[in-house]
Amino acid sequence: MRNINTDNITQVVLSSFDRHPDARQRQLIQGLVEHLHAYVKEVKLTHPEWRAALAFLHRVGDISSDSRSEFSLLSDVTGISSLVDLLGSDPQATPGSVLGPFHTVGSPWFDNPAQLKGHNEGVTMVLRGRVVDLHGNPLSHATVDFWQNAANGMYWQMDPSQPSDNLRCQMKVDANGCFDIVTLQPVPYQIPTDGPVWHDLVHPSERSSWRPAHFHLIVSAPACKTLVTELFDEQDPYLQSDAVFGVREPLVGHCETLSDSATLRALRLSAPCLQIKFEICLAAA
Ligand SMILES: [Fe+2]
Repeated sequence: MRNINTDNITQVVLSSFDRHPDARQRQLIQGLVEHLHAYVKEVKLTHPEWRAALAFLHRVGDISSDSRSEFSLLSDVTGISSLVDLLGSDPQATPGSVLGPFHTVGSPWFDNPAQLKGHNEGVTMVLRGRVVDLHGNPLSHATVDFWQNAANGMYWQMDPSQPSDNLRCQMKVDANGCFDIVTLQPVPYQIPTDGPVWHDLVHPSERSSWRPAHFHLIVSAPACKTLVTELFDEQDPYLQSDAVFGVREPLVGHCETLSDSATLRALRLSAPCLQIKFEICLAAA
């Protein structure tokens, strides 16, 4: 094509990807080109603005490392991560929510009930979960992968004072699909505020840097769709302004006092504490 102009350039570029051998990849690339061209035309993007956008992406790459992905943060604060989670959720099942950057594969396996609190400072809280299918039947072969932050707001990877794999575990549910985790009440924390995503994008928009406190869970069961989700406390002050748009109403739990002596004994607890219940419904695969 010798005569590229604003009217034909989008179609010419789209056609240039026609021979990509993978149909889905072709759809993803061509859809992206189509929408980006439409965006550039709509906002009448200028050269200085385009150079600034590229420089921003360079800085996002520069600050990223094996232990920190500023691109994931960019995806989170623009709601892309949450939109992908929502599109992947079955409307009948428990909704998905952001995986976040602190999941690691291969957390230690714990017996049920899991004792995670150990020597951690903080308020004792028991997560009392139950995993069911779309008909409410318990999924007795489900497994749970769980992680959370410590009372100082940090995950173990961020904090040399915590032992490796602190406040995380994998476990199996019981015959009724139930599991208990004796742990800490999680605390709110801030997204990173030392990088270009915060400085150039989030802060100038006067948005909050805070995430409401949450537990992270990945729940799997045979013949079911694996669920990556979070559980929040209805009392949390940041539920309305989560910096990464992860809150969904079915993921907001009610925190209450656990004082039943038989249950406390079964959980090896010597005093009343907090509990939060969470029924997790998995869709069929
Ligand atoms: Fe988190």
